Amino acid sequence: MPHTLNAGKVEEIRPGKTKRVKAPHGWILVCNVDGHIYAVDDLCTHEDASLYLGCLKGHLIQCSLHGGKFDVRTGAAVEEPAEQPLRTYPVTLTDGEIHIEVPA
Ligand code: FES
Repeated sequence: MPHTLNAGKVEEIRPGKTKRVKAPHGWILVCNVDGHIYAVDDLCTHEDASLYLGCLKGHLIQCSLHGGKFDVRTGAAVEEPAEQPLRTYPVTLTDGEIHIEVPA
């Protein structure tokens, strides 16, 4: 059963910034890419590093540990050593609040 997580207000995440929110199954990284909000797993698929510690440039998040890059719009791994995609989550915005559909 999916579960809807309230990830706070859009205005709390400025464009180019990220926020980490706790879901029942783990941490999710919420990204503001030029005003569009995307949600992906916070854990890098290469090894166990938090992408929150990485750097968001445009729609690409770069892992701080080995420099792998992912497209936060699709979860795709776009630069090695990252090869496996990140899981992505549906996001809806209601009255300026971010809602993320996550597994229960
Ligand atoms: S842990 Fe992220 S690229 Fe290695």
